[in-house]
Amino acid sequence: MQELIQAAQQARSRAYAPYSRYQVGAAVRAASGRIYTGSNVENASYGLTICAERVALVNAVAAGERKFTALAVAAGEGEPGMPCGACRQFMAEWFTPDVPIVVVSSHGQQKQFTFAQLLPEPFGPAAFAEEKD
Ligand code: THU
Repeated sequence: MQELIQAAQQARSRAYAPYSRYQVGAAVRAASGRIYTGSNVENASYGLTICAERVALVNAVAAGERKFTALAVAAGEGEPGMPCGACRQFMAEWFTPDVPIVVVSSHGQQKQFTFAQLLPEPFGPAAFAEEKD
């Protein structure tokens, strides 16, 4: 997990956040063992901003990954920043309930959750697998 946290912290330093100045880095480990990173990428048209977590996942999925074993997010100064609701829903596409998610702040505070804790009873691909008609 330490390597993943370091990757998230490095990714945070590459954030493009000139509007909010709130920098976020994320690193996801795929079942292949590889790590994919992302940082938040803001836009002058504010609503087009993309969160770090989704950038990391898009990087991984576009590289062919579909299974993930852990996610680290680096955000916040004191209290670590938590993944937003949109990112949690995005994770639901691939994350199983037991996937660990670690959040770390720049002051070194750290919290760990499972995906199920961050998004209980998710809406996901299973909804379509259950469709019978
Ligand atoms: N942000 C993330 O990158 N991830 C989250 O889960 C929460 C918010 C970014 C989006 C925006 O660039 C900045 O943080 C402030 O909202």
